[in-house]
Amino acid sequence: MLKSVPLPFDCSGIQLDRSRGLASQLYQALRERILDGRLPGDTRLPASRELAELLGISRNTVGRAFDQLYAEGYVRTRVGDGSYVAPLALHAPPAPKVTAGPLLSAALQRVQAQHLRVPPSGAPRAFRVGVPAVDLFPFATWSRLQARFWRKPTPARLGYGDPAGDAQLRELVAAYLRNSRGLHCDPAQIVITCGAQQAISLCAQLLVDVGARVAIENPGYRAAGHAFAAAGAQLCGVPVDSDGLDTQALARLQDCRLVYVTPSHQYPSGVTLSLPRRLELLEWAERTDGWIIEDDYDGEYRYHGTPLAPLAALDRQGRVLYVGTFCKITFPALRLGYLVLPPGLAAVFAQRRALDMRNSEIGTQVVMAEFIAAGHFQRHIRRMRLAARSRRDALLRDWPTNIPGCGALPSVDAGLHLCVRVESVQREAELVAAAASVGVEVTPLSGYWLDDSATPADQRAGLVLGFAAVPEAQIAEALRLLRGVWL
Ligand SMILES: Cc1ncc(COP(=O)(O)O)c(C=O)c1O
Repeated sequence: MLKSVPLPFDCSGIQLDRSRGLASQLYQALRERILDGRLPGDTRLPASRELAELLGISRNTVGRAFDQLYAEGYVRTRVGDGSYVAPLALHAPPAPKVTAGPLLSAALQRVQAQHLRVPPSGAPRAFRVGVPAVDLFPFATWSRLQARFWRKPTPARLGYGDPAGDAQLRELVAAYLRNSRGLHCDPAQIVITCGAQQAISLCAQLLVDVGARVAIENPGYRAAGHAFAAAGAQLCGVPVDSDGLDTQALARLQDCRLVYVTPSHQYPSGVTLSLPRRLELLEWAERTDGWIIEDDYDGEYRYHGTPLAPLAALDRQGRVLYVGTFCKITFPALRLGYLVLPPGLAAVFAQRRALDMRNSEIGTQVVMAEFIAAGHFQRHIRRMRLAARSRRDALLRDWPTNIPGCGALPSVDAGLHLCVRVESVQREAELVAAAASVGVEVTPLSGYWLDDSATPADQRAGLVLGFAAVPEAQIAEALRLLRGVWL
């Protein structure tokens, strides 16, 4: 087991103007470095005397800056062991910008303009979003299947494989979707991907022309928006209400023929797209000769009521591209998902994928196929659904009802997260920072909106809480800590 070593403190580049308040400048410089990831969580702060000497200022000044950071939750102390940067639920910092050279392509600049941030990594913590109960994965079974495959793989499987994915796995995915979603498709319509994200990215690469308008839910899954924008799309945010994506607002968009939706469990609001809206959406695609990308990222998790048929199962015109993933039922690092495509599109999607990566690693595909064929997958889905429901209950049961500025928790019938409204973005920032100061991850809802949203800033505020990543005891402990800093 590796022992965790405190990260070194780097204060290079801190310039203080002696004609202005030094403590507040130092506070701001450190805060900025914490927020943009230059001072990551668990970085040990130097002793105030040491930093004062380094910067040529008084120890009191440093103390005042540290106090402010401590009060706002950016820094925490470990008894007898100094002060550390709090592990905030910040996404990893964006890559440094490439600025030199006259030949920066438009494609490069589009990616750079996105300010992409990767999701938080490391061991799951309460209340990380997008992570299922990874602690329940049957690793013994998986490693047995892996060992069996690698002991004597058939030579035919060791060359370049089918870029659309392993044939047996595609057949099993088709059977699974038929039985679990009422979605009838031919295995030839399926392309295996590295998770839902690659499936969305392939859609962006192949369906978006530079300058084309793409409709996305607002608030919504930002990484999908980034994939479309990186392909040159002009993003059009469509509001979401209690019935899901507002199809009338979509219909009012001129020259838009592609929409990305999360109908079974809108991300992040958690609402389900109603049946009338589903039918309107299909009708819109037919009328505009457009495409619908249906992201069913967490469709296995339904706790109450029967799920509505996916758009892909209702589609009679070949207008829906259905995205599924194994990563929310196993663990995100598995990187395995799939696309179900209208018949005419499958071959070209596979060709595009061959250009990116030839084919996915064979071992994971074959083992997943065995895992499904032997019934482990269905058993694991049941286990994961039960666990997520019980973890949801633990959160709902012990959630403090009197958090100033925070609305009531919604009822949660599906998925792995919930979303609660907060009165203002300022209050949202306070709650997030205070939670981080005690090592609890809560994700600000305001980060899920497009920057140019018409919705007033304070109406975008809220907290998104993933409830499945850690067991009930850790949820209870996290709520105890939150009570200490929020109430
Ligand atoms: C709405 C939505 N779609 C897709 C994904 C990506 O899933 P995957 O890990 O399979 O790429 C996520 C991940 O959190 C998500 O929230």
